[in-house]
Amino acid sequence: MPSNLLITGASQLLTLRGRVPRRGKALSDLRIVKNGAVLVHDGVIAAVGPRAEVESLPEALAAERIDVDGRVVLPGFVDSHTHLIHAASRAEEYELKIAGASYEEIARKGGGILNSVKKLRAATAGALKERAHAALRDFAAHGTTTLEAKSGYGLDVASELKILRLHKELSAEQPLEIVSTFLGAHVVPAEYRNKPGGAERYVAVLTETLIPEVAAEKLAEFCDVFCDRGAFSRKDSKRILEEGKKSGMLPRIHAEQLTRTGATQLAVQVGAASCDHLEQVNKADIQALAKSKTAATLLPGCDFHLGMKKYAPARELIEAGAIVALATDYNPGTSPTVSMPMILSLACSQLRMSPAEAIAAATINAAYSLLRDRKIGSLEAGKQADLAIFDVDDYREIPYYFGVNKCWMTLKKGRVVFQKGHT
Ligand code: NIG
Ligand code: FE
Repeated sequence: MPSNLLITGASQLLTLRGRVPRRGKALSDLRIVKNGAVLVHDGVIAAVGPRAEVESLPEALAAERIDVDGRVVLPGFVDSHTHLIHAASRAEEYELKIAGASYEEIARKGGGILNSVKKLRAATAGALKERAHAALRDFAAHGTTTLEAKSGYGLDVASELKILRLHKELSAEQPLEIVSTFLGAHVVPAEYRNKPGGAERYVAVLTETLIPEVAAEKLAEFCDVFCDRGAFSRKDSKRILEEGKKSGMLPRIHAEQLTRTGATQLAVQVGAASCDHLEQVNKADIQALAKSKTAATLLPGCDFHLGMKKYAPARELIEAGAIVALATDYNPGTSPTVSMPMILSLACSQLRMSPAEAIAAATINAAYSLLRDRKIGSLEAGKQADLAIFDVDDYREIPYYFGVNKCWMTLKKGRVVFQKGHT
């Protein structure tokens, strides 16, 4: 039976309708409807607008109603960069970092990503899935309705495929949409590292075995590379991304996080959907992104967690006209958070983005970076009814209150997937 749902009584309804992607001044254009309502038909938005208008539609009369009683309604967050599947935290490294060890020092001693690889290889698929399910419930509880998930803690054929197959299984078992990315090129695994020709042989495993298998099984939409000191060179990154592209996986890239490698220029050259991190970009990189269609995804959770003082130059990127998006980078090494509201707080206080810019970067621009801006990222008739409802009077209070979860309800395709106080 077709179902109608009326969500009404929003003090502010952040529609974000309009031009996609948002660049420059348009990034702060939230298209707010005061005292707004949304009518949903079979999981799809049928109407959005002022309460009186929407409520008087014939379909609204018999619809099931949720009165949000003056709260703020916005599109569900689109978290466009996560490393969802991992086996355990790295709290022991967190303590070492606080005591002064750098992220790179820990990695050189076999910690870091390789530490997570060891733990993932030893974990059963069942245990990994259970951990991911718990994380997904937490994502939903913070207003996220779609997330990208990268492999990259397996780094051998069986373990990478295990992760990507879990993305698929999780997509079927719980309500949030998971967009799968292959990140076999996270780092060179221990069995190839520091061996003559080792890195080259691992790149061959990626390009000759893994990419074709991932493509044949349709396990990933995107192919990502960590292009940095201690990870992959620009030359190897290019080869891997081009191979991925030939197999139908669009490039994404971890760029200029620890050092400037020229990865941003590579991202633009290969037409990457997204170029992420960007702490170390220079002016030429900013210009290149501004002229391109590649999203610049900023991950301030990493700098915060690692205690780094240098955040990505968000203001310069926005003012130059780059397509700025925001994501958690949920992972055990650099950003163990599922909270997009916390990322918005960091974007405002550390990246000097306005609350409106941060919200647009975390919804419509992030949806664009996942090639889903026609379906999600704004509240418009015909789009999926993915909504986050916050227990605040004004949208600026979403980043303003930090360290406390103000998400009141989350809906995915018109279905309540989180409600405060209900488990
Ligand atoms: O996005 N930079 C590479 N990958 C992750 C960190 C992974 C880890 O330390 O486990 C990131 O920050
Ligand atoms: Fe990452």
